[in-house]
Amino acid sequence: MNVTPFHQHLEELYQNFLSLKEGNVADYIPELAKVNEDQFGIAIITVDGHVYQVGDSKSEFSIQSISKAFTYGIALEDNDQSFVESKVDVEPSGEAFNSISLEPDSGRPKNPMINAGAIATSSLVKGETGQEKIDRIIDVFGKYTGRKLDIDFDIYESEKNTGHRNRAISHLLRNYDILSGDPEEVLDVYFRQCSIKVTCRDLALMGATLANDGVNPITGIRALDSEQIPNVLGVMASCGMYDYSGNWIYRVGMPAKSGVGGGIVAVLPGQLGLAVFSPRLDDKGNSVRGIAVCEAVSKTFDLHMLHSTRTTTSSTIRRSYDGSSIRSKTVRDISANRVLDKYGKDIRVFDLAGDMQFVSAELVMHEIMAYENLPSHIILNFRHVSSINHAATQQLCDLSTLLTNKGKIVIFIGMPKSFGFTNKLKLLLTDSTNWPMMDFPDLDRALEYCEEQLLENYDWVPLSTSSPVRLEEQPICLDMSNDEIDYLENHLKRKTYDTDQVICCEGELADRMFFVELGQVSVWVNIDSNRKRRLNVIKEASSFGEASLLGTKKRIADIVSDKKSVISWFEPAALFQDTSQISLNIQKKLFKNLASQTFEKLQRSDKEIRSLSK
Ligand code: DON
Repeated sequence: MNVTPFHQHLEELYQNFLSLKEGNVADYIPELAKVNEDQFGIAIITVDGHVYQVGDSKSEFSIQSISKAFTYGIALEDNDQSFVESKVDVEPSGEAFNSISLEPDSGRPKNPMINAGAIATSSLVKGETGQEKIDRIIDVFGKYTGRKLDIDFDIYESEKNTGHRNRAISHLLRNYDILSGDPEEVLDVYFRQCSIKVTCRDLALMGATLANDGVNPITGIRALDSEQIPNVLGVMASCGMYDYSGNWIYRVGMPAKSGVGGGIVAVLPGQLGLAVFSPRLDDKGNSVRGIAVCEAVSKTFDLHMLHSTRTTTSSTIRRSYDGSSIRSKTVRDISANRVLDKYGKDIRVFDLAGDMQFVSAELVMHEIMAYENLPSHIILNFRHVSSINHAATQQLCDLSTLLTNKGKIVIFIGMPKSFGFTNKLKLLLTDSTNWPMMDFPDLDRALEYCEEQLLENYDWVPLSTSSPVRLEEQPICLDMSNDEIDYLENHLKRKTYDTDQVICCEGELADRMFFVELGQVSVWVNIDSNRKRRLNVIKEASSFGEASLLGTKKRIADIVSDKKSVISWFEPAALFQDTSQISLNIQKKLFKNLASQTFEKLQRSDKEIRSLSK
């Protein structure tokens, strides 16, 4: 990929902080003191999976305390939230990472980010044995990083041999029954989880996964339940940087977690994960360069989470239009078109976009309820919506209930399956009479349905539903005399097609002009080898295959009958060979009618373009 200006910004930032050499590597774990203290890497990964990295972003180091946040997520998934909270509180301690901040009577640690809380958290991971617990931790962390992770056994052994304070904390927790079972076994899980080897890129991806509602933006694999995201980010925001947490949230403004291995990961929800690796630490155990870089990145790119963006009507409703300006692709006869031109305003489509949250859903509601005369058919198109949260789902349910109670038809289309939105709606809407219609595969089918309903409501009578439409009723035969109709009729062939029977295929020679006398056919284009798209529908009293009037052309679509249909056709080449006056007259009229049909289509397209550009 080409280097983007953002790559260059990151490179500059890296160069600016290379000379910052304050702080010292952690040496209370002897093995940690051996790392190359000059290492320095920065990585940013967006929720779209775009990766930006500079410096030593691919060298491995031990995750240390950063593991605490992710293990807390696992503990919440594996237990009832209230049970987890009964074992570990979520209150910032304002003290060092290894402080023994326990509630006086219960012995409950202050939060899961200090060692005492983290050891208690590790014990809550599902697993009969310590081995099962650590296997689960490594497995879940691997979902965040998109690669299998390993333990640095030298660091693990080193901490195990020297971690007397953590050993004391474990036994104290056992004394208060915060831990059950063998405190040494839990301690071993904790030491192992701290020794898992990651890179700066891994950390950025772990952050981006939290930013992306728990789904790894590169692999698409979910690492954490969506409902636990605020819990994990909440403790990271309030406690992740220990006794620097207040300053951090004030200056950098992103939930974050640091580790004595020199890593820091920060998360901007909905946007990105940022990670820095530089082993020199300040006296609070946080990477000196890590803090400086995160502050600079946050300031330079306005990443403080409290710089909230405003949800606007234009970012939520891409466009809104009615059924008189935008039609389904169904080809209808003139009288039906007139009804729809006149009454199509009763169909209103809202193309929604972006993240549907409380305020965006409220905007949609407000916009709809502002109509003095509510349209009879309301289509909400979610095709460009990237997410829908619970509050928005609830509001859309309320809207559907209100509108259906007023006798309106509400249609929801284009909800990606991944939202689980349809199921959530069905759970919330206990009274099925208020369900919006949700089974249309696309906007065109929904529009077609609404148009049929309008035509029915306005007593439009089709030319025929039981007997075939006569040739003189076909718009392309307008103004033909009885003799001319008879002439054409004598050259017609006719066939009845069953449902789903192919009438002609893409690539075939277009040498026939067809009339739909009864039934209905669809025009399908092949998007690729296994995907087709219905382009339009052609009803009785309409023709297709006009390309055959224009010489030797190939068919550009498949035509398939939608139901039992009577189709007739003639071969224009034979007509052109006959130079008799009657044949010439017919040719002239066919071309004139084709030109006026094409002009009408152009006018309709103009109207569509105008309404879409509003
Ligand atoms: O508990 C310990 O001492 C280490 N294994 C982890 C400490 C840590 O990373 C503190 N964070 N800055």
